[in-house]
Amino acid sequence: MTPKPSAPQVHIETFGCQMNESDSELVRSMLKQEGFVFTPDRERADVLLVNTCAIRENAHKKIYAHLSELKEMKSRRPLVVGVLGCMAQNLKAELAETEPLIDVLAGPDAYRQLPMLLSNALEAQEQGFAGKGFALDLSEYETYEGILPDRDNGVNAWITIMRGCDNFCSFCVVPYTRGRERSRDPEAVLAEARDAAARGFRQITLLGQNVNSYRDGEWDFARLIGAVADVPGIDRVRFTSPHPKDFPPALIAVIAAHPKICKHIHLPLQSGSDRILDLMGRGYTGDDYLALVERIKMAIPDVALSTDIICGFCSESEEDFQDTCRIIERVRFDSAYIFKYSERKNTIAARKYPDDVPEHIKGTRVARLLEIQRRVTLERNRDYIGKDVAILIERDATRSSAQGMGKTDGNITVVWEKGTGLFEPGTFITKRIFDASAATLYGK
Ligand code: SAH
Ligand code: SF4
Ligand code: F3S
Repeated sequence: MTPKPSAPQVHIETFGCQMNESDSELVRSMLKQEGFVFTPDRERADVLLVNTCAIRENAHKKIYAHLSELKEMKSRRPLVVGVLGCMAQNLKAELAETEPLIDVLAGPDAYRQLPMLLSNALEAQEQGFAGKGFALDLSEYETYEGILPDRDNGVNAWITIMRGCDNFCSFCVVPYTRGRERSRDPEAVLAEARDAAARGFRQITLLGQNVNSYRDGEWDFARLIGAVADVPGIDRVRFTSPHPKDFPPALIAVIAAHPKICKHIHLPLQSGSDRILDLMGRGYTGDDYLALVERIKMAIPDVALSTDIICGFCSESEEDFQDTCRIIERVRFDSAYIFKYSERKNTIAARKYPDDVPEHIKGTRVARLLEIQRRVTLERNRDYIGKDVAILIERDATRSSAQGMGKTDGNITVVWEKGTGLFEPGTFITKRIFDASAATLYGK
């Protein structure tokens, strides 16, 4: 056996949303600073980290399946396993007790303690006993200021601008796993954007559970995104997710006016029924949402819109569901993420409303909406046929390295034959679209 290099090797796997991707980059940065080394090969790792998601039961299931693979690995050789993120925060004691596999648990606000926890666990393991370490305090202040993320290569850099959520939508676990809302210092955000540009990233995506409640003194989200888009070297700025209940005219105006801000808005609707929206605690009606979409479309005629929908929330009737279908048809989103309602422990809905829509009805409603959305997406994508689109080149297409892949301003995937032309990720190329599916535009 070859001797182990002295620096502990760490492998990290990330589940869940972009916020978790971004957090994993922070974790990597903090651990590297303390002498840990990262490996893409989990077989070689001394420490395996799993950054987890708790948003739906399916997310939990995926992670439990993953943990049982790790259990098998740990039965073969010494290994420190750390579970991070929203599921760690949410299940705390339960996870610690039922999973003897886990050495370290750390929630989203406790990552500064991770190097210490992992060092202790490695040391304990060397001495032949299990040293468990948990850090699960949520903080009202932690924004990881002063830590520059160790970014994944590519054209896009994530920048988290605010953490936590105070909205407490009744179905949602995030306010419990990520704690109270707090915004970062705008100067620190801008410094990160300049640093990303200097490292060759061409696109920035601003992240927050609720980006448009960003505030720091005189700075609101509209001002911040405008300033980020002014950073020289950055060609595209995206953001996710805004909440429809606070989408001020100034934000619409800056998106419309600034050539570097992508004309794509992800605007989670959740339901089209006023009664259900009220039970969800979303703070708007179907008409409010449609009026906002109208204002956006007036100011930005070529805007691309996407959304999130939950089917089968507590007491949702066929009529409520029809209201959602109607709004989907009216707005004509470019794409939609459609989910079955999944009850989360301790949320307002879990405490107040029975999860009473039968599983098979949730399933058929998801399928029906997917069918509507697939048709609309296809129609919208086919509208591009014959048009020239500007594409930011990302990488080789998944199917073949003879093909290139990139995204339009509206975040639609385009694939084309590379041929002998210039192919450089991070640069722009213009292609005429000659065919379209519901997932992809084909350019030449
Ligand atoms: N902060 C983001 C949402 C993050 S969660 C926002 O407000 O836009 C992403 C999506 O997951 C939500 O928009 C919602 O559609 C879905 N979701 C959240 N909780 C859910 C639950 N309990 N069951 C099913 N879907 C859920
Ligand atoms: Fe969850 Fe609502 Fe907060 Fe989004 S805004 S994270 S759905 S509570
Ligand atoms: Fe999941 Fe946490 Fe993101 S619950 S969706 S990883 S905020």
